[in-house]
Amino acid sequence: MSQNKTILSGIQPTGKLHFGRYFGAVENWKRLQEEYDCLYMVVNYHAMTMPFTAKALAENSWELCFNLLACGIKAENIFIQSLVPEHVELNWILNCFTGYGMLSRMTQFKDKSQQNEESGSEGFISAGLFTYPVLQAADILIYRAHYVPVGKDQEQHLELTRNIAQRFNNFAGREFFPTPEGLYTKVPKVMSTADPTRKMSASLGDKHNIDVFADDNRIRKQVRSAVTDAGGADAGAMSAGVSNLFSLLDASGNAEAHASLLADYEAGALQYADLKEAVADSLIAISREIRENLAELKKDRKAVKDQIKQSSADIRKRAQETLREAKDICGLMNVRF
Ligand code: TRP
Repeated sequence: MSQNKTILSGIQPTGKLHFGRYFGAVENWKRLQEEYDCLYMVVNYHAMTMPFTAKALAENSWELCFNLLACGIKAENIFIQSLVPEHVELNWILNCFTGYGMLSRMTQFKDKSQQNEESGSEGFISAGLFTYPVLQAADILIYRAHYVPVGKDQEQHLELTRNIAQRFNNFAGREFFPTPEGLYTKVPKVMSTADPTRKMSASLGDKHNIDVFADDNRIRKQVRSAVTDAGGADAGAMSAGVSNLFSLLDASGNAEAHASLLADYEAGALQYADLKEAVADSLIAISREIRENLAELKKDRKAVKDQIKQSSADIRKRAQETLREAKDICGLMNVRF
């Protein structure tokens, strides 16, 4: 894998950073920085497609930048989407290369519009929610990204992105946009400890996710109360709850404890309490380091914000270059025509 391949991903400035998001996305992003040219974006424009307030949107966007930095994402790789308004200009252009039929088949729109209908938005479903995947395509294509590390739930949006890129390339008569691939690195799927048949998620409620920034006691308490017997396992098979605890242990890099407890399990001698303590210890160790980093960053908030503004301005230059060429291809500037 070469240094010059570009990776781009986006994360919503909503909800908190729980271990599901940490192991499922952020930790992977951190590793990828060692091998690729990485761009990680806080997608505040996308966050407007669900009910929001200006204050919360601004606060959550900054909060997420601080959290990503605390987790080890490099400042020069982080930017805020709205600080690169070219995404929206390319979005319009790409709208005109997007098949209405294909956009209508996006399952995330169907899920989220239902959520909006049921929530406090009084049934309001914006056109923004519908065209959301086209902005996502602009996010990716404006940097000519090769790989997009996302969850499987984003596969359909990536397929749409490739379709838009191809249609544009046909129009341009050349391979202007590389067709981006999803990077489905093997990341552990973290389930809720309160209901191990469901994915750990902020929207399910507090007991269904473990906050990376929670204090030691809270983390230990949540792990101790993890459900171990549910999950509908066949007799003799590991239950979903126990399996989830083992995945958490594995994900947190505690290989030694994982191996010895698994041996206990296989010998029929595993004490769930021991497994839970090991998981709690591992998660607490990760959380402590991140919380320390965060406390350090918060000593000078302005300096951190300035850094992100600067990286956004630097990254913006790359976006401007692509947009200029895309406009030229479309006859929107008097360069070629
Ligand atoms: N739609 C993505 C999600 O819900 C977030 C996102 C927006 C994104 N733009 C992106 C992800 C570009 C990857 C690339 O998780």
